[in-house]
Amino acid sequence: MQNQEVYDELVAKFEKVYGEKPTIVSYAPGRIEVLGNHTDYNEGYVFSAAIDKGTFFAVAPTADDSCALTAGDFMETATFTTKTVAPAKEMTWQNYVTGTFNWLFEGKPETAPHGWKGMFLGNIPLGAGLSSSAALEMCTGLALAKLYGKDVDKTTMAKIGQKAEHTFAGCPCGLLDQASSMYGAEGSLVKSDFRTNSFETVSMGPTVAFMMVKSNAKHALVDGAYASRRQACEDAAKYFASVLRKPVTHLRDVTMAEWVLYRGGLSETTAKRAVHPIGEDERVVQGAELLAKGDLKAFGALMYDSHESSRNWFENSCEELDAIVDAAKALPEVYGARLSGGGFGGSCCLLVDPAAADKIAAHITKEYKAKFGDEPVCSVIKPSQGAHLV
Ligand code: GLA
Repeated sequence: MQNQEVYDELVAKFEKVYGEKPTIVSYAPGRIEVLGNHTDYNEGYVFSAAIDKGTFFAVAPTADDSCALTAGDFMETATFTTKTVAPAKEMTWQNYVTGTFNWLFEGKPETAPHGWKGMFLGNIPLGAGLSSSAALEMCTGLALAKLYGKDVDKTTMAKIGQKAEHTFAGCPCGLLDQASSMYGAEGSLVKSDFRTNSFETVSMGPTVAFMMVKSNAKHALVDGAYASRRQACEDAAKYFASVLRKPVTHLRDVTMAEWVLYRGGLSETTAKRAVHPIGEDERVVQGAELLAKGDLKAFGALMYDSHESSRNWFENSCEELDAIVDAAKALPEVYGARLSGGGFGGSCCLLVDPAAADKIAAHITKEYKAKFGDEPVCSVIKPSQGAHLV
C-alpha cells in the first residue's frame, strides 16, 4: 500500500470507530541501517536512512481522562485512562504507544489535562528489521505532543521513544531507530554520532539506491539475544577501562589496536562481541571519507566487511542473511551488502545500481529459493523524509 492509501484508510477507519474525524495526524518512517551495527549503545557512529514506508497516527482529544487506542490493521482497541497507563501483557502492540505517552509526560501521564482516542496504521513490513516499532513511537510522540501543545525537539522525542522501548516493550535498544526516523531526509543518509547525539544528513547521488532483501527468518529483539550482546559490550568496556591508561566508558573509546593487544584478558566470546562495534566505528569513519569522494565501490566493500564481522564475531547473522549477502557478492551491480539492524533474521541492506534492480532481485531470489524453498522480498528503498505532522 502507498502512503496516501494508508492515510486515507486510517482516516476512514478512525471516523468509523470513533464517530468523528481525527484532529491531528502524524507520520513517521521506518529506517534502514547502512553501516555501523550495534554501535549506537556503544556511543559510536552509524549511517542510516529513513525509508519511504512508515506509520500514521491519528488522534482526537476526549473530554475526560479516558483513552482508547486502536490498531488500524487488525482493528483491536485497548482502553485505559490517563491514570492507568502501564505496560500491558495482552495486546502488547499498545506498549509502544502508551510507553511514548507515559514518557512524553515524564512518567506522569496522569498529569495530562485530558485523554485521547487514537488509531495507527502503517505499511512497514513487520519483523523485517525496518523499525516499525520506532516508527510507531515517533508518530505517536509527534501527534500527542501537538495535541497537548508540547514543544519537543527531535532528539528528545527519539529518547522518549527509546525509553518506551526499554520500559514498556522490554527491548534495551540504542537510539538509532528513533533518531533515524526523526532526522531522515529525502535522498540522504543520516550520519549519527551517539556520543554527542549529533545527526548530520549526507546527500546520496541519484546513481545509487538501496535494496532491502527481507529474509523469512524470524527477527525478534525482545527475546534476549539483543540484550546479551549489549551486556557483552558493556562488560568489555568495563574491562578495557581497567587495563587501558585512558578514560573508557564505552567501546567507542577503544581502538582496534588496543583490542588486539588486550583481548587476552577477556573471555573468547566477550572478545568476539567487542571487536564488532569497534570495527564498525572505524568503518563508518572511513565510509564517510569514501562517500565524500563518491567512491561507492569502496564504501560497499566496507558493507561486506561489516557483514563478515556480524557473521564471525558478533554472531547476530543467520543462514538466510548470509545466503543473501553471498548471492549479492556475485553481482557487479551490487556494491555492498550486509545485515541491517539488530540481526538474528530480518533484512539485508544492499547498495545497488538502481538500473540493475530487477536483475539483482531475480538472482538473489533464485539463489535463496534454491537453498530455503521460499522467496525473500526484494524492494528498492528511497531514502526519505523523516517524521512529520501531516
Ligand atoms: C536495533 C536496535 C538499535 C540498534 C540496532 C543495531 O535496530 O533497536 O538501537 O542497536 O539494532 O545496530
